[in-house]
Amino acid sequence: MASKRSLATKLGVVAGFENPRLALEQYPTPPELAAHVVHLADLHGDVDGRTVLDLGTGTGMLALAAALRGPARVFGVELDRDALSTATANQRRVAASAPVHWVQADATRLPLHVPDPVTVVMNPPFGAQDGNRNADRGFLSTASRVATVSYSVHNAGSREFVEAFAADNGGEVTHAFAADFEIDAQFDHHEDASRDIDAEVYRIEWA
Ligand SMILES: C[S@@+](CC[C@H](N)C(=O)[O-])C[C@H]1O[C@@H](n2cnc3c(N)ncnc32)[C@H](O)[C@@H]1O
Repeated sequence: MASKRSLATKLGVVAGFENPRLALEQYPTPPELAAHVVHLADLHGDVDGRTVLDLGTGTGMLALAAALRGPARVFGVELDRDALSTATANQRRVAASAPVHWVQADATRLPLHVPDPVTVVMNPPFGAQDGNRNADRGFLSTASRVATVSYSVHNAGSREFVEAFAADNGGEVTHAFAADFEIDAQFDHHEDASRDIDAEVYRIEWA
């Protein structure tokens, strides 16, 4: 298995959102964090030969990280058509060999059947924007329905919510770790060139 660092380096060519939409919380997952999540999933045997489903794929960062390992196939689901154009261009840049399918759809009402076994990787909207509260709940709900295991990035302080949600939906948090999430300024209200967000990553096994 290649190293986490080499995966992050390969993901360095992934371009960000061309016209990021604040209402959809279009922040790209940093390549180091995507590499960390997918490398961990690979070490757990959650990538090889499986379907990997990236919910809210945006630029395709997590989907393409998985595609650079040995999944049977990858699906990237995203509401925004422009983001999917970026993801498609990023797929050409990354040149991963696994088949990747980009699907324009609401990840909280998944309209497709994906072949088992399924691993979900996702960095859902944190629900920080007005009218978008609990956005990550709908994403976790989809993971609970379709996946045997999921890896999800949430904002700091989500542990109680994620553990309770998993327990109520036949899941169990098996791993949790804190992660730095650096985002470059991309919206008008961003005053600094970049800022760090405290994030948390959860691995959940679903019954
Ligand atoms: C925090 S961003 C993560 C993006 C991605 N991991 C990346 O690195 O580019 C959340 C993404 O979820 C998408 N999104 C928000 N609500 C969605 C929904 N209901 N269904 C599908 N995608 C959604 C946004 O457009 C955005 O691309």
